[in-house]
Amino acid sequence: MGADSEHQDEIMCSCSGTTRQDIQFWFEQGLDLGAISRKSGALSGCGGCEWDISQYLKVLGEKNDRK
Ligand code: FES
Repeated sequence: MGADSEHQDEIMCSCSGTTRQDIQFWFEQGLDLGAISRKSGALSGCGGCEWDISQYLKVLGEKNDRK
């Protein structure tokens, strides 16, 4: 927590308006990138957010591993 929890409202996918918080929510439901894309509409537009979102999922995954 700390550093990244301040940016929960940050939009990660501007095409769909998907925020960091949305990505985290779907991640916590156990969805992978493809499923998150289908649920949220992220990655369904320009695709420019793909790197950011996949990096963020990686960070979330690493946090879980450390629990
Ligand atoms: S910013 Fe996510 S598809 Fe365009």
